[in-house]
Amino acid sequence: MDKLLIQGGVSLKGEIRIAGAKNSALPILAATLLTHDTVKVCNLPHLYDITTMIELMGCLGVEPIIDEKLNVEINSSSIKHFNAPYELVKTMRASILVLGPLLTRYGQAEVALPGGCAIGSRPVNLHISALQAMGADITVENGYIKASVKGKLKGAHIFMDLVTVTGTENVMMAATLAEGQTIIENAAREPEVVDLANCLVAMGADISGQGGDTIVINGVDELHGCTYAVMPDRIETGTYLIAAAATRGRIKVKDTRPDILESVLSKLEQAGAEIKIGENWIELDMHGQRPRAVSLRTAPYPAFPTDMQAQFTALNCVAKGSGSITETVFENRFMHVHEMNRMGASIRVEGNTVIVDGVEALKGAPVMATDLRASASLIIAGLVSENETTVDRIYHIDRGYECIEEKLQLLGAKIRRIPS
Ligand code: EPZ
Repeated sequence: MDKLLIQGGVSLKGEIRIAGAKNSALPILAATLLTHDTVKVCNLPHLYDITTMIELMGCLGVEPIIDEKLNVEINSSSIKHFNAPYELVKTMRASILVLGPLLTRYGQAEVALPGGCAIGSRPVNLHISALQAMGADITVENGYIKASVKGKLKGAHIFMDLVTVTGTENVMMAATLAEGQTIIENAAREPEVVDLANCLVAMGADISGQGGDTIVINGVDELHGCTYAVMPDRIETGTYLIAAAATRGRIKVKDTRPDILESVLSKLEQAGAEIKIGENWIELDMHGQRPRAVSLRTAPYPAFPTDMQAQFTALNCVAKGSGSITETVFENRFMHVHEMNRMGASIRVEGNTVIVDGVEALKGAPVMATDLRASASLIIAGLVSENETTVDRIYHIDRGYECIEEKLQLLGAKIRRIPS
């Protein structure tokens, strides 16, 4: 397995472009199953998860056409069956996003039950119960979700017990072709849910309320094709800004959206960063100063995103003072903490909170990535270490960060990939 070799002690400086959002691209690719017209999806990031979703489409008998910029044209009229196999689903839990589209358009779907992962048990019970409320017959057996409906799904008034991003997305997609009106209460408000809704509306869906906690969908007979550009990745944006703050640097990120990062930008300002924003760019300047420790609590959007908790923990490791970070979304998202303590950090875990006492710098060490965002946080830890760090199992990082070492090299980092 490839590793990343990082020589710490460099302040990041320069400009980079942000790619399309992985967590918006994945549901939008699944949404192409809702029509037999051609849907062109642009601004897709070059990530393993995207190729896995395209591979899953291929597995269903749908042959995407991919151009040199990784824009994808999908016409699902060639679909041959409705089974998402375990071999693919085990590598990417977001495969569950084909469940709603297959069920509502073809009346059947068989999707491997996504297992848990490093950050938690990741159940999909809310996806299943919502689709059952819409009239689907769903059984879970031999590790597969087997769903069917005679005729069309029926619109329903659904209250999601927990805010679930892909759960909201699956139900919203299923509701676009259901009979009647579906109301999703306690819906996820994440920008990626809004991006999917906007793409579905461009395909002819009747959706309102996206971005709020109540989404209303009136089913239509069919959807048509469209061309849709995926929104910028707010998590990639935040990750580079946090890395620049931790290394006392000055960077500008372009092709991004400052309006969906307010909670993160506010925490970076609390850490001492000077932030300037434009319509599609953000500039962060630490003026060479060591960051101040911040305290935060993750929660569903618009609160501080769980996907940036590990990265901020890395910043707190080398900040002035102590900061506490509470994780309320996932039950086991502190796997990076033990690796950071091996690098000389001073982090105490108390239930779902970590208390970090900042030190001047970490000590490089061989560390191992366990999940996508923990990998990014270990790279940040390597960047703020006095000597060399190797990060192993970086296939996690390649799932969610496009060309991470090239982008960091553009910002002056001493980082390179060591093929295994
Ligand atoms: C999405 O995962 C993202 N993935 C995650 O990003 C992100 O961390 C998460 O939302 C929270 O923002 C994609 O969009 C592809 P949830 P998702 O359903 O939808 C519980 C990354 O790093 N829950 O919002 O799977 C669940 O256990 C990834 O890019 C149930 O109990 O997350 C969790 O505690 C990691 N039953 C909470 O809800 C269900 O049926 C939120 O999970 C569904 C969820």
